[in-house]
Amino acid sequence: MKRLVFATNNKHKLSEVRAALDGPVEVVSLAEVGLAGDIPETADTLQGNALQKAQWVVEKLGIRSERLGVFADDTGLEVEALDGAPGVYSARYAGEHCSFDDNIDKLLAALDGKENRRACFRTVICLLDPTTDEPLYFEGRVDGQILTERHTHGEGFGYDPVFMPDRFAVSFAEMPLDVKNLISHRGLAVKALAEYLKA
Ligand code: IMP
Repeated sequence: MKRLVFATNNKHKLSEVRAALDGPVEVVSLAEVGLAGDIPETADTLQGNALQKAQWVVEKLGIRSERLGVFADDTGLEVEALDGAPGVYSARYAGEHCSFDDNIDKLLAALDGKENRRACFRTVICLLDPTTDEPLYFEGRVDGQILTERHTHGEGFGYDPVFMPDRFAVSFAEMPLDVKNLISHRGLAVKALAEYLKA
């Protein structure tokens, strides 16, 4: 079975991606390959950040073995009424060391009184596959709207409590993980990755 290192320190993402990729590959965490620390993401596009994160792991591990590839994802929440912000800066929207709650507070304040609450999540995955020379990219997108207050229940992270995908009456945070995985930005990008890996 092919083994791929997933360049993330986010345990929510790790379990989402493991569930979605179940089958064609074994997803190895950074901890399992003995890597810790902040992964740099200083590019100004999702694609640039995904590449930077995956390259960081390859450089740290010094690997390009036949069986061990690396992939990384970068996600942005793009809000129409905010001209696409916070976008690539979604993680640090409310400041360098802000919490998910700080980001949500800032977003709700920025949209206060605005009628248009349309938004989308976009994910770009970069795969550095030892069998190909160039990085490969896979994308996923989900459209929806920003709620006026948090709807939380159990699972979820980031902006999940205030994002309601189209055709659903609940926020991402209120959905079981397997449902979120089927329709989410990251789920769709991972599906595209899985299809490539199976082919
Ligand atoms: P990252 O750089 O890919 O980790 O994503 C940037 C930020 O987007 C994260 O810090 C979260 O705030 C947010 N984000 C990414 N994925 C999700 C998701 O599935 N739900 C809610 N927020 C997310």
